Amino acid sequence: MTTDPMPRFPAGFLWGVSTSAHQIEGAAEKRERSVWDAFTDRPGRVADGSTAAVACDHYHRYREDVALLAGLGVDAYRFSVSWPRVNSPGGLDFYDRLVDEVCTAGVRPVPTLFHWDLPVTLDWRIRDTAFRFAEYAARVADRLGDRVPSWITLNEPAEHTLLGHALGVHAPGEELLFDALPVAHHQLLAHGLAVRALRAAGARDIGIANSHTPVRAASDAPADREAADFYDLLLNRLFADPLLTGRYPRGVAELMPGDVAADLAVIAEPLDFYGVNYYAPTSVGAPTDAPSDAGGVPVPAGLPFSVRQIEGYPVTDFGWPVVPGGLAEVVTGLRDSYGDRLPPVLITENGCSYPGLDDQDRIAFLDAHLRALHGAVAGGVDVRGYFVWSLLDNFEWAAGYARRFGLVHVDFATLTRTPKASYHWFRELLKAQR
Ligand code: FCB
Repeated sequence: MTTDPMPRFPAGFLWGVSTSAHQIEGAAEKRERSVWDAFTDRPGRVADGSTAAVACDHYHRYREDVALLAGLGVDAYRFSVSWPRVNSPGGLDFYDRLVDEVCTAGVRPVPTLFHWDLPVTLDWRIRDTAFRFAEYAARVADRLGDRVPSWITLNEPAEHTLLGHALGVHAPGEELLFDALPVAHHQLLAHGLAVRALRAAGARDIGIANSHTPVRAASDAPADREAADFYDLLLNRLFADPLLTGRYPRGVAELMPGDVAADLAVIAEPLDFYGVNYYAPTSVGAPTDAPSDAGGVPVPAGLPFSVRQIEGYPVTDFGWPVVPGGLAEVVTGLRDSYGDRLPPVLITENGCSYPGLDDQDRIAFLDAHLRALHGAVAGGVDVRGYFVWSLLDNFEWAAGYARRFGLVHVDFATLTRTPKASYHWFRELLKAQR
């Protein structure tokens, strides 16, 4: 890691941390069940057999967690609102208290309305879910809109579609393969309808958090390149194109349910910012006879691509390659592909899983990614903020509690929070950036 000081980001750059409701809140008895509760009840679905019933118990300890945010000195806190909790008596009261606490700490609340914990009674395969989402968005905005300046509709519809509905390794555990495409469309429609509902409620700063992975062809062979282009289309462009251009990439619109032309006008509602979640690039090659797996994306044989482990980089505890330049590549690529249609970008998630309190690996990871991002900003890409995933160690979906992404360590037996070396490092970095 270089010892040169971190270059300065532009004035007004928004520094933050991210979390999500299902991963930290606990208090499962005080909300409806979500698809994730049903999924974790199925044996063998979560690596360590755990559930998020208690998680970090943030529901009861939110004051302590907001104090950690304040101590860190961040400008903004991205958290998510749990739709199953909002459906339950007193659920919105919790977010009311949380938002008050965050605002009192001088931190900007940036809620995400859907971070994968769909009420178990709903189903993204059904178009009506998009309309229910817009109603829910309006309810939340009605209650919190007087204090919340910035909203995120959905978290990573691409991962939710791929992992949850196509491959079945996340909730709701469906293995629909290409039949999962309506799930993508309905989430995008939900996003557009929610943007309209939020605007009608007076919101002025609205975005989405999309995952982006630079796709590397496994070799220059035409079959590998063709497979990589297709994977790029499915993971990146399938979501960015309709949002930013009002069109699905060629060859995809025909696969969507019914006539989607009118929906595309809703999906392409102008955004105030475009959130990017970046973790690592993906290496993709021609189909193989056997299933392939890279970084927890198990691709069955028979699909028109296979995934490979990226060679030549260190890997995190999760086995994900550490490629800081990929972050610059993503934002520069978005600017080059979408030009003026791309609103200002916020990096809504970036981070890594490593064990231990003296997490020098995490510091090196974040430092290198921020330097790469700064290069892109200096090159003219309009990036306005950066949120570390995550404030706390938490329930890392199908990996359970074994993967630790937090700047703050959580002892899941006692629920004691302990800031890690990376927390102190990030606080000093923020001070130096002021
Ligand atoms: C992202 C998710 C987030 C967290 C990180 C590690 O895909 O949005 O909830 O699990 O990965």
